[in-house]
Amino acid sequence: MGQYQDTYNDAINDPSAFWLEQAKAVQWSQFPTQGIDSTQSPFNHWFADGTINACYNALDHQVNDGRADQAAIIYDSPVTNSQRTLTYRELLDQTARFAGVLKAQGVTKGDRVLIYMPMVPEAVVAVLACARLGAVHSVVFGGFAAKELAVRIDDSTPKVIVAASCGVEPNRLVEYKPLLDEAITTATHQVASTVILQRDQLQAELIAGRDHDWQEVMQNATPADCVPVKSTDPLYILYTSGTTGQPKGVMRDTGGSVVSLKWSMSAIYDTDPGDVYWAASDIGWVVGHSYIIYGPLFHGCTSVMYEGKPVGTPDAGAFWRVIEAHKVKVLFTAPTAFRAIKKEDPEGSLIGQYDLSSFKTLFLAGERCDPDTLNWAQEKLDRPVIDHWWQTETGWAICANCLGLEALPVKSGSPTVPVPGYALDVLDEAGQPVDRGEIGSLVIKLPLPPGTFPNLWNAPERYQSSYFSRYPGYYETGDAGYIDEDGYAYVMARTDDVINVAGHRLSTGAMEEVLAGHPDVAECAVLGVADELKGQLPLGLVILSDGCDRDHDTIAAELVQRVRTHIGPVAAFKSVAVVARLPKTRSGKILRATMRSMADRVAWKMPATIEDPAVLDDIHDALQALGYAGDSGPAS
Ligand code: COA
Ligand code: AMP
Repeated sequence: MGQYQDTYNDAINDPSAFWLEQAKAVQWSQFPTQGIDSTQSPFNHWFADGTINACYNALDHQVNDGRADQAAIIYDSPVTNSQRTLTYRELLDQTARFAGVLKAQGVTKGDRVLIYMPMVPEAVVAVLACARLGAVHSVVFGGFAAKELAVRIDDSTPKVIVAASCGVEPNRLVEYKPLLDEAITTATHQVASTVILQRDQLQAELIAGRDHDWQEVMQNATPADCVPVKSTDPLYILYTSGTTGQPKGVMRDTGGSVVSLKWSMSAIYDTDPGDVYWAASDIGWVVGHSYIIYGPLFHGCTSVMYEGKPVGTPDAGAFWRVIEAHKVKVLFTAPTAFRAIKKEDPEGSLIGQYDLSSFKTLFLAGERCDPDTLNWAQEKLDRPVIDHWWQTETGWAICANCLGLEALPVKSGSPTVPVPGYALDVLDEAGQPVDRGEIGSLVIKLPLPPGTFPNLWNAPERYQSSYFSRYPGYYETGDAGYIDEDGYAYVMARTDDVINVAGHRLSTGAMEEVLAGHPDVAECAVLGVADELKGQLPLGLVILSDGCDRDHDTIAAELVQRVRTHIGPVAAFKSVAVVARLPKTRSGKILRATMRSMADRVAWKMPATIEDPAVLDDIHDALQALGYAGDSGPAS
């Protein structure tokens, strides 16, 4: 390891000097004199006396730098059969106008704006318009239900909500407006104003005085200029699943985001300004924030915005079509997308039907990448396939093969090595470092690099207790894994109730809260069980209240529907069984891990602390009836 190791050492030995140097590559209103201020650690402040504007870096600077006529966004939507290109000049014009719209509605620096939109260019316009004004955007993924939206409205207290009339899924239109109306009605926080983009597929009914039509307000808007903000001012809030039904509002600051994302575009992804970069994700997730919107634009790349799926829109050749059509150099997606493609086109025969000469590298993240999928992709594409590991909290990769620094040999099953800035370690239960090859908690020694989360919105205590209290001096990632003798990291499983369904991060705890709210449910457990396509799927086991003699299938159907309406279709909650008892320890803790191993047909041990081992027989039968669990009993 040459250039990688040198850069890693520089970033760890003197983080302030290293990142101040990288900060020179972006545009500041006031260049910072200081790298990190860790006097209030773990609440670290990067570039504290710098002032900056993220939208200026994404758009104005690119136009001034000669990119006015270069495509900034290429929108490709097989689900609506349409395509549209916005140059940097066009994206800047629209963004400045929309910033004017928000300003006219009273949005100023620090105000929150909630964005509930599908994968259309106007969503990027809305996001960047917030950044232009120094307002804080909070994008909510379209697959979430009204209740989840209401929780986010109450926590972020937005002045304005920007939404669209509908999303387009392959099998149906998702009407956003009724969900939005319900959320606004149920939320305690009062939202005075919305802007609704009417899509051709569906016209939403607008409420006079509250809802404004996007096209109309844009026509009369006065473009607004960039408002410089402090580097430490929030750029956005993005809610993500924690262990309870109350999502965590991950906050991102402005200067750190601009510097880290710009740096990552060359150091990790090895792209140059002008290259076409495609993150096949959704703007509702962190990958979308960092690599559909900000990263590629900060770097002067062209970003592809794809409103479709890897399969079924229309077939498993969809990704290759997009790569050929737009000359994509780097594709970034989740392993689940490749499992879906592999399932439909196991020989990869559709790949050969397209000209992929522009395509250099595939990056995967969002969930553990199983070696089979990685090897298949590598063999069929005949290109480097790079697994990299990151989280909503970090905003960019913790571990990766930093191709722009030095391409290291790929080891399947590993997202390679810690990215410069991340001092990765593995600790045991007692907080002691473990030997190489031994599994433990993956932690990052403080300080975290710029672009990671400096706080949780409205929840500094939760920030400290969730991430920094168990291992003082470290950030606890919530993932377990190990580092091998070559320094390669392996991320094996979550240590908490978070599961990963088709690359979507969900909380089994939140689902349990929804099931427990059903009047007939006395107690329940939700497990994340292994699934060939989606990585994991949630499975519910419920005990009914005494005296309930209703039909079990009816109750199960109600529970499935309940999760769909309370959390959203994206939870993919479809399996639930009624059981008489749940296995518990003598102290009353439900033995979820044992049930999960049973469901996944992996070896499990009878827990020494189990209160009544006979309960597991019933659970085994219930799991088998749902298509899980094998014939065998405990391994020992
Ligand atoms: N708005 C509304 N509903 C949505 C939605 C959105 N943006 N995205 C998904 N949903 C719905 C789907 O319509 C589906 O509903 P259904 O139960 O009525 O069929 C449900 O949520 C589950 O959707 P999805 O996870 O997309 O599963 P799928 O079975 O339709 O497709 C894959 C499977 C693998 C093709 C798909 O999950 C996929 O493309 N995954 C890649 C994920 C990804 O990019 N993650 C980002 C991390 S980098
Ligand atoms: P999210 O916050 O939605 O990005 O989800 C983050 C979680 O996804 C991580 O904590 C991991 O559990 C998982 N994850 C993301 N990328 C990887 C990866 N490359 N390998 C293993 N797990 C991953």
